Amino acid sequence: SLGLYPDFMAKEIEQQPDVAERLITTWSGSILHGLWPSFSLPVPRHVTVVGCGTSLNAGRVVADLLARLGSIPFAAVEASELTSTATVPGSLALVLSQSGETADVLTALDVLHGRGHAVVALTNNPHSALARRAEAVMMCHAGPEIGVAATKTFVAQVLGGTCVVLSLLGCSGAVEQQRAQRLVRDLDRVPDALAQAIGASRRTIPQVLEGLTKASGYVFLGRGPGRIYADEGALKLKELTYRWAESHAAGELKHGPLALVEHGTPVIVVDDGSARMHATIAEVSARGAEITSIGGHGTSVPALGSPLAVALDTTVDWLGPLASVVALQIIARELAVALGRDVDKPRNLAKSVTVE
Ligand code: M6R
Repeated sequence: SLGLYPDFMAKEIEQQPDVAERLITTWSGSILHGLWPSFSLPVPRHVTVVGCGTSLNAGRVVADLLARLGSIPFAAVEASELTSTATVPGSLALVLSQSGETADVLTALDVLHGRGHAVVALTNNPHSALARRAEAVMMCHAGPEIGVAATKTFVAQVLGGTCVVLSLLGCSGAVEQQRAQRLVRDLDRVPDALAQAIGASRRTIPQVLEGLTKASGYVFLGRGPGRIYADEGALKLKELTYRWAESHAAGELKHGPLALVEHGTPVIVVDDGSARMHATIAEVSARGAEITSIGGHGTSVPALGSPLAVALDTTVDWLGPLASVVALQIIARELAVALGRDVDKPRNLAKSVTVE
């Protein structure tokens, strides 16, 4: 039930620290003991990540981590594109789906099996077709997600996938065991970082809301793993508000999309505090953009007048800007509520898309 929450999305956003805690407690023990219990697959030389929408974004975060920590290359493919996309022979397929019933994902699963790929599934539904048919299953333990917009399942997929990554790298020796154990212990801090992000977002986002409601289009920017979060923020905003949102790698802006930016254009930055991000922010700021910076470093923004910063805890830096997703979800939801949208049931969309 909703309890005191105005909608399921609000409830599911607030549940994220608890979901993270449950998942980390469930899996980190087995990882610390050096083995992924039901995982007898060899360490892959390449990974193919498959999913749709938010699940694909979670998969991209996980694969990026595998590449950064273990130097294992990957390709991320939309499930609907897999039939016409070549895959690397012998690649391990990591297939993510909250529902485990998405038609595009199940078709992709057939294609992957047909090409001889072993499949690790990351799903929130143990009884789903995906869970039944994959070679190994990692459960998300997020509890039922009612809102059509995926929130807590994204966090659960990223953390579940992170446990798979650490387990693989620890077992294979690609990351030395003691370091893998330190990384697992770092994960214990994630629930607090997510709770902190909820508090910081609630305090600061109302200050930008009025400016955001007046705009008709939005630009999201990020760098490195932050780019994936920018994509997720733009997806959430489109889905809930029915307004246009673009997401770009910050450095690509000057190669075209900068032409969109004018006085008052909202630019939402997943801010890594780097000098290059600072330069991008200065560039859009000079054109009168309304900047909202989401990040923990805070170095880019204060020097540039008075853009808004949602300051995040960055203690688990190697994981990428996971806590920024909380701010991005809250921006999308608050804006949708201010516009009178039904945030739990956006138009034209279904929770589980069972047609191709
Ligand atoms: O159940 P799945 O994770 O396979 O669903 C995939 C997408 O349809 C889903 O993530 C969609 O993008 C979300 N509604 C976005 O919030």
